[in-house]
Amino acid sequence: MTSFFITFEGGEGSGKTTQIARLARHLEAQGRIVVTTREPGGSPGADAIRHVILSGAAEELGPEVEAILFAAARADHVAAVIRPAIQRGEVVLCDRFHDSTRVYQFLDASLDRDLMKRLEQAATAGLYPNLTIILDVPAGIGAERARERRKGGTADRFEKEGEALHERRRQAFLKIAAEEPDRCVVVDGTRAEDVVAAEIAGIVDDRLEAARFEAICQSLNARQGTS
Ligand code: TYD
Repeated sequence: MTSFFITFEGGEGSGKTTQIARLARHLEAQGRIVVTTREPGGSPGADAIRHVILSGAAEELGPEVEAILFAAARADHVAAVIRPAIQRGEVVLCDRFHDSTRVYQFLDASLDRDLMKRLEQAATAGLYPNLTIILDVPAGIGAERARERRKGGTADRFEKEGEALHERRRQAFLKIAAEEPDRCVVVDGTRAEDVVAAEIAGIVDDRLEAARFEAICQSLNARQGTS
């Protein structure tokens, strides 16, 4: 089977977790082996760093240091979970990846873009997603959904931030999608869960078929080259 690496991005309450679970079921029904994972975390080493980040302890050190922590967690996650699954020919569905660092830590244009790129390279070691689904939901709707989900429980530091900031992040995700249209697809996450799930399934089925076709062409070319 052709391996494939899909990331899901979007703001709080955009429905990523639900849609990832639904896509996993859809792909497993086709006989594919699916690995579902999430960031920050996803491997024992990265989970240890996740606790530090989400506690807010790194916040006062500034976004660049925080980005280094996310990159450290990502490096372990890629090496321990994502790359091995890709090498086994599986489909990896990851809840957040490098676009979240671009949007959350490097939102401010004055921050060091060169550092951002170097951290990405170090964390991923060149393993970038084949497809990124950006679940787009206006900040107000996302915040309302996050509150519902929490049902009175305490908000983490990212959830305590204001709506205007969430809207800026939303626009930053949309900008990434516009800059990398081959990798990114924006899906309107305000619609009914079933409608969103069906659209995502259709997009992924098309991409997997194209990848399979490409793999066949490559192996035919390689055979012709050796005969
Ligand atoms: P989490 O509780 O997993 O929330 P969500 O369901 O929104 O993914 O918390 C992850 C938080 O970490 C989320 O608010 C986004 C943030 N984050 C970054 O700031 N940078 C990153 O690189 C990643 C992966 C996440």
